[in-house]
Amino acid sequence: MPLPLPAVARPVSTDGGTDRYEIVQRETSAEILPGLRTPLWTYGGSFPGPTIEARRGRPVTVTHRNELPVPTVVHLHGGRTPADSDGYPTDLVLPAAWPQTPQTMPGMPGMPGMDGAGGHGGGTGTGMTDPRAVTSRLRRDYTFPNDQRPTLLWYHDHRMDFTAPALWRGLAGLHIVRDDAEDALGLPAGPHEIPLMITDRAFTADGALTYPSLDPALRDRPGVTEPHLAGVLGDVVLVNGAPWPVHETDAARHRLRLLNASNARHYELEARTEDGRRLDLVQIGADQGLLAAPVTHRSLPIAPAERYDLVVDFAAAPVGSLVRIVNRLGTGRTRDVMAFRIARPAPADDSRIPPRLATDLPDWRREDAVRTRDFAFRAGRMNGGHGWLIGGRPFDPARTDVTVPLGDTEIWRLIADVHHPVHLHLVGFRILTRGGRPPLPHDAGLKDTVSLRPGESAEIITRFDGYRGRYLFHCHNAEHEDMGMMANLEVV
Ligand code: C2O
Ligand code: CU
Ligand code: CU
Repeated sequence: MPLPLPAVARPVSTDGGTDRYEIVQRETSAEILPGLRTPLWTYGGSFPGPTIEARRGRPVTVTHRNELPVPTVVHLHGGRTPADSDGYPTDLVLPAAWPQTPQTMPGMPGMPGMDGAGGHGGGTGTGMTDPRAVTSRLRRDYTFPNDQRPTLLWYHDHRMDFTAPALWRGLAGLHIVRDDAEDALGLPAGPHEIPLMITDRAFTADGALTYPSLDPALRDRPGVTEPHLAGVLGDVVLVNGAPWPVHETDAARHRLRLLNASNARHYELEARTEDGRRLDLVQIGADQGLLAAPVTHRSLPIAPAERYDLVVDFAAAPVGSLVRIVNRLGTGRTRDVMAFRIARPAPADDSRIPPRLATDLPDWRREDAVRTRDFAFRAGRMNGGHGWLIGGRPFDPARTDVTVPLGDTEIWRLIADVHHPVHLHLVGFRILTRGGRPPLPHDAGLKDTVSLRPGESAEIITRFDGYRGRYLFHCHNAEHEDMGMMANLEVV
């Protein structure tokens, strides 16, 4: 299959300094596997959804209309977003036919006196409602100031207890922030800049997605069947929604904007030529934008929700040959990701990789931190069953786990039992140490997701800047997230 490039969304208006978009969340089906139709939940009828192209400092308002059969929540991952547009998991957009009162809402334990607010499903089982939830019916406007470093962000569903299956069904899209300084660097652009959203999925013989939900309607009972408690993996690798695609291009430098949007799968990527060489993966950016200087990798681990901005020079591959992107962590077909067919020599390639990329990276030092916090990401018991916990507790929207005064710098020490990609909303952070040692080469730059390996600890440092309000931090293994591994971060 050829590599699809997600369509760029067209604004419905650009008046008053704001770009306005409308996205309808709806069911559709698409030909993902040749000759078969796959039912999907989509943003705007496609998977991935339409890409939002934004300029730094120019706000975007997206009106999302929910025509799906269940409530949804939109979160812009990596966005520096005011809390009311950040997609808190109980700030639901209800579909037209969803019952109004909490007593009759599917998944609601029924708490008299609570007013139409979102609540907690039965599976994580804490049984409380969230008095601060702001639900709406059918539609909601999300405003993104884009007042942040240019980078690749992504938007995805964030409904409490049901994020993982909603992502799996297709609720994910890209959102790119650019600015003049980045445009002036001379990086590969136009057809030589390619977003790659990598996901794994599993299918039935007739082309439907399979996902081991306890409640396939995603209404009442969250969670997955026993064998999948560690996270759901697929055996088909999709890039931009196509299985193992091949992209035909010329022998020029390419800027590859990588996102691992898989629920639980980790990859370790290499670019291999047919004669067995590994091409340099020159990293120019991390989750939260450009690095100070490029870092060259031969292989690159990428955890769920992480992004890497890479330049790969296909001039090193013979015209007519294939460059395969392979996953060293895969087995069988999940070792393959995609390939580039180098179809022709490059017209004069005037792109470049400047030795100095960004000069605006925050250089928080240890002594800037006014406090240090510790968080353990571990398996545990929750509601009489298996859960994934932070600091021994499952997510509870009614509890504030962390309160930070706006503007404070803090060090967080994170420790994991098994693999946990830990994500903070609102802020970017720097990795100070990993496993008690200096960070790894791919930890460079400003991150919003850090991949903790089994048994590993990491220290991160950040300044809680931007907006006051209720945010989150959580594991981005989407099944872990749904099974409790999320906590509240209140900026005051
Ligand atoms: Cu990708 Cu809480 O987000
Ligand atoms: Cu996020
Ligand atoms: Cu996890």
